[in-house]
Amino acid sequence: MYKPPERIKHVHPDGGWPTAGVAATSRWFSPVEIGALTLRTRTWVPAMVPWRASDEGFVTPEVLSWYGRFAQGRPGAIVVEATGIRDVPSGPLLRIGHDRFVPGLRSLVETVRRESDGHTRLFVQLIDFLTIRRRPEPATYFRRHLVLGDHHRRAVPQAQGDAAVREALLAMPDDELASVLTARELESLRMGFRERVTDLHLPHIRALPQQLPLDFAAAAVRAQAAGFDGVELHYAHAYTMASLLSRRNDRDDGHGGSREGRLRAPLEVFAAVRTATAPSFAVGCRFLADECIEGGSDVDDATAYALAFARAGMDFLSLSRGGKFEDAQQPKPGAAAYPYTGRSGYECMPTVLSDAQGPFGRNLAAAATIKAALVAAGERVPLVVTGGICSFAQAESILAAGHADVVGAARQSLADPDWFLKVELGRGDAVRRCKFTNYCEALDQQHKPVTCQLWDRSSQDDGPDVPMTADGHRRLIAPRWQR
Ligand SMILES: Cc1cc2nc3c(=O)[nH]c(=O)nc-3n(C[C@H](O)[C@H](O)[C@H](O)COP(=O)(O)O)c2cc1C
Ligand code: SF4
Repeated sequence: MYKPPERIKHVHPDGGWPTAGVAATSRWFSPVEIGALTLRTRTWVPAMVPWRASDEGFVTPEVLSWYGRFAQGRPGAIVVEATGIRDVPSGPLLRIGHDRFVPGLRSLVETVRRESDGHTRLFVQLIDFLTIRRRPEPATYFRRHLVLGDHHRRAVPQAQGDAAVREALLAMPDDELASVLTARELESLRMGFRERVTDLHLPHIRALPQQLPLDFAAAAVRAQAAGFDGVELHYAHAYTMASLLSRRNDRDDGHGGSREGRLRAPLEVFAAVRTATAPSFAVGCRFLADECIEGGSDVDDATAYALAFARAGMDFLSLSRGGKFEDAQQPKPGAAAYPYTGRSGYECMPTVLSDAQGPFGRNLAAAATIKAALVAAGERVPLVVTGGICSFAQAESILAAGHADVVGAARQSLADPDWFLKVELGRGDAVRRCKFTNYCEALDQQHKPVTCQLWDRSSQDDGPDVPMTADGHRRLIAPRWQR
């Protein structure tokens, strides 16, 4: 994982916790309208993949207890983890690409309603992603995966026959290979093969702009049937929709190049989802305030995207930043690249050992710019901001300054799912504060059930039935709040 070279250790923002009376009259604990819905408070748990779905993508009892536990803290809204819209195997990640997933998702909705006493609104994040393969061993790559071309044969004229060409390439030193293989071949060797939205020679990639609106709309209809309050279209990080929006998207078929071209498919997806669902069903998206990669979209682009989404009628906009494959670190052979290991990944989930800016509220300046442009254009769509927010004072000052309308917290909510309720009840002193050292994120990277290191440090005895990971070492849910 990338770490800023400055290694400055930052102190958690404080500002004191409010009394129950102060919280009751605060902005953060006041209602906000999201389309036709009202959130009871402006608190928000953004999407977090916990690696608890079944291998076939179904809701499991562990998924129910994960979301039920967040619901006990009564946030205004929870966004369920990135959930795949295609009916294709994708390991223990939630899926919504077929009607068979609806009953499990309905029980998830019921769990959150019950555990929050009906206080929390529930959205599900809809994701599409392209193929990514694990980094191969060089022998496997050269003997099995590489599609031989004349440029390879020319580079090793002494080799007789394709099998000999493959062996000669396998024996070639790294620096020589760099001038023989194409950039994509080199990437497939060093990082693992990864499809791009710009691979127009592949028919299914060329057809994405026609296929995506159908898949997203069908998934949103299932989410509505399952009882969700709305969907968050995943237009952020390293996935299909963000790649279409990216300034690096140079598709020449009208779905790339200019800002208008890059926005076309995301707007068509939204239009299809909006048409397929009831007006009372909220439809918003999560996108990047800045891709934080060379040649990627910046806050100017993000402002234009926000205005376009608002004008199209989205019910909310949620901002993230970074989290891209383009600057990901090289994975070990047998592992897949992970889009949160480079500098852009750091921008997405910054840690306490930081640069001068620090991890707390790292997306705020961009959010303020985007919100100001929305206000100037008369667009009232609520803006959600997340990133290193872990205190009441931070949230309150963001809302007071008008930099956003809803303030989310991912890792702080993971560390203490009751924290919103504690603050609301004037018990901020009892909040278990996130360390921002990303133990949880490292588990996500290894595709292991995500837990918080602080849960296991708790000396609290919740009885013999605390669910643990398969190895028996880690608690699967946060300790109960003993008031
Ligand atoms: C374990 C883990 C899983 C995550 N999964 C998702 C996801 O599915 N979709 C998404 O948009 N962001 C995901 N994120 C990013 C968070 O939603 C959030 O943007 C990020 O952690 C920064 O916010 P924070 O500082 O409040 O943690 C994930 C973060 C963590 C720690
Ligand atoms: S594991 Fe660390 S970074 Fe993650 S929620 Fe817990 S304290 Fe925060």
